[in-house]
Amino acid sequence: MKEPSEKKQHLSRRFFIKSTSAFAALALMPHSVKAFYHDIKDTFFIKKEIIGLQLKINGKAYSLRSDSRTTLLDLLREQLQLTGTKKGCDHGQCGACTVHVNGDRVLSCLTLAATLPQTEVTTIEGLANGSELHPMQEAFLEHDGFQCGYCTPGQIMSAVACVKEGHTNSVEEIKEFMSGNICRCGAYNGITNAVKSVAT
Ligand code: FES
Ligand code: FES
Repeated sequence: MKEPSEKKQHLSRRFFIKSTSAFAALALMPHSVKAFYHDIKDTFFIKKEIIGLQLKINGKAYSLRSDSRTTLLDLLREQLQLTGTKKGCDHGQCGACTVHVNGDRVLSCLTLAATLPQTEVTTIEGLANGSELHPMQEAFLEHDGFQCGYCTPGQIMSAVACVKEGHTNSVEEIKEFMSGNICRCGAYNGITNAVKSVAT
């Protein structure tokens, strides 16, 4: 059995050999491998950059400064406190974050705010005309198109676009073109009836 002092000496010798080997491996790493590592880093980790943004949201012009990587959803909710647009999955799967850009429905969680100069963004806050609700908002109330209401702003923005696109010729078509908006409460019948009533 080794004496404690002998053991300590053995460990420190082992540590010395291991650490010098690691440094030597790093130093000897081929230039091409290092360049590859830097390419990967630049590709997948976009550097932080604060940029100026000019946006028109609900008819109002905004001049802002923001991280170039900010999504429209985060800009709306966290910088402008327009929290009517909801964050569900943040991955383009639930539709809760739907807003209009130039009248077309888009998922704001997948849209970089920096890509939107010269565009007109409309959120659920901009749909009503003062105290007068949009017909689709009225229809959701009338047809019980919601329960908890979390998905509702996205559903309504999608529904308005669905009618405008003309995808309302049958219940099946409405369901198909509203299928990007998930409702965990299962208020689908009310939602479909609301869209149908506005379309007709
Ligand atoms: S939060 Fe954008 S699709 Fe779910
Ligand atoms: S009303 Fe609750 S998720 Fe749709």
